[in-house]
Amino acid sequence: MQLLIEKIKNEGKVLSESVLKVDSFLNHQVDPELMFEIGKEFAARFKDEGITKILTIESSGIAPSVMAGLQMNVPVIFARKRKSLTLVNDLLTANVYSFTKQESNEISVSKKFLQEGDQVLIIDDFLANGQAALGLAQIVKEANASIAGMGIVIEKGFQDGGKQLREAGYKVESLAIVDSLADGKVTFRQDHKV
Ligand code: G4P
Ligand code: NA
Ligand code: NA
Repeated sequence: MQLLIEKIKNEGKVLSESVLKVDSFLNHQVDPELMFEIGKEFAARFKDEGITKILTIESSGIAPSVMAGLQMNVPVIFARKRKSLTLVNDLLTANVYSFTKQESNEISVSKKFLQEGDQVLIIDDFLANGQAALGLAQIVKEANASIAGMGIVIEKGFQDGGKQLREAGYKVESLAIVDSLADGKVTFRQDHKV
């Protein structure tokens, strides 16, 4: 997606060989117009999948997911990372290990928002090692719902997640794929839809 690639080129900061900072439009401040276009792009890429719900994880997955939900006219659910006062009963849960933080966290979704028969689109802001996406997939399976695909804003193609998820058979659509952050420079994959 050319608009997103331009935004990353202009505002992204390479923090290390493996970490890209995009807090001016995705991870802290949010650019609503860009998110609106991202929502349209996800809607176009998954228009034939009969999506009934979008599932993401707090916090940075919410903005692109809501915009996709607006375009597709379906509800958006975000998995919680912490137990809330009101979210206590009838939970679907999964453990998500973060290689970055070297810790495991339980994520949860109320059973009442995912049903058998739902065709779920999983959306996240970043795809690195794929653990968040796999955790969300586990929650969809626990609900006996179907995974229609995965929509990712920025995939780090030099990490393993994309390969794992595609080999597992998921339709993964990433709006920008970063193949390298070497030498302080963002290199994008050429062979994907822009
Ligand atoms: P994984 O799910 O693909 O295995 O990723 P990992 O555990 O490595 O990611 C942990 C957190 O770091 C996630 O956000 C993920 O989106 C984010 N992340 C991973 N790589 C990058 C990167 O290169 N740049 C940025 N900006 N973020 C990255 P989170 O902790 O869940 O935070 P948030 O959703 O509340 O923002
Ligand atoms: Na994130
Ligand atoms: Na995220």
